[in-house]
Amino acid sequence: MLQIASLVSGYDALAVLHDVSLHVKESEAVAIIGANGAGKTSLVRAIAGLNRAMRGAIAMHGADMTHLPAHARPAHGIASLLENRRLFGEFTIEENLRLAETAGRKLRPGRTKFEWNDVCDLFPIVRERGATRVELLSGGQQQMVAVARCLLLQPDLLILDEPSTGLAPKVVKDILEVLGALRDRGMAILLVEQNVGIAASLTERAYVMSLGRIVHEVAGEEWRNFGTDERLAKAYLGGGREP
Ligand SMILES: Nc1ncnc2c1ncn2[C@@H]1O[C@H](COP(=O)(O)OP(=O)(O)OP(=O)(O)O)[C@@H](O)[C@H]1O
Ligand SMILES: [Mg+2]
Repeated sequence: MLQIASLVSGYDALAVLHDVSLHVKESEAVAIIGANGAGKTSLVRAIAGLNRAMRGAIAMHGADMTHLPAHARPAHGIASLLENRRLFGEFTIEENLRLAETAGRKLRPGRTKFEWNDVCDLFPIVRERGATRVELLSGGQQQMVAVARCLLLQPDLLILDEPSTGLAPKVVKDILEVLGALRDRGMAILLVEQNVGIAASLTERAYVMSLGRIVHEVAGEEWRNFGTDERLAKAYLGGGREP
């Protein structure tokens, strides 16, 4: 569904991603892991259209998106939750979500629409505090609204850049539960996550990044053991020998 081939991308003329190729299939949950500065955020920004592709190609459902502006990408089925949540603080929860709802795309055959009620069921705060201005919410609550907003864009692929960073354990647990429910519902997920245990619990396989490149792909039992096997994590994520 998402296909990235030999992508080179970065900031202005500076390339920080080198020859990155990856794919995500329909309904697949995939993680991207790697040390600080490995290029995870830069990759997500390139997929979202916020960083320019200097070489290579990005396609979704077989359609080329390589040079599409960021605002045109949700129409191809991509919704991304980046580090800044891009909500409108002075608007209420409901207003933020209604805006996304009107921007929601036509569904591909066979997909079920995310209705307003589905979102309220997943995120009780929408029902309980819909009239509250977003700027008055805590970081965790804003994160919930940001995920809800992504869903109302009716994506086929939800991309999240470290959604648990800076949040209290209880909120992290809530967000993970929501992501698990989405995965079980068949939503494809591309999750950037430094916490390997969290990443492995939610996804089927992972790409490991280092210095702007994908250096490994981990799947199956190896990936399931990754979070608990210190030796593996060290070998892949640094702090030890390069694999
Ligand atoms: N705005 C920017 N301008 C220039 N270079 C940048 C910019 N943002 C990031 N970089 C560089 O791009 C490289 C990859 O950074 P990136 O933020 O993608 O890493 P990351 O894997 O997301 O790290 P972290 O785990 O800390 O979030 C780093 O060398 C960084 O210095
Ligand atoms: Mg990052």
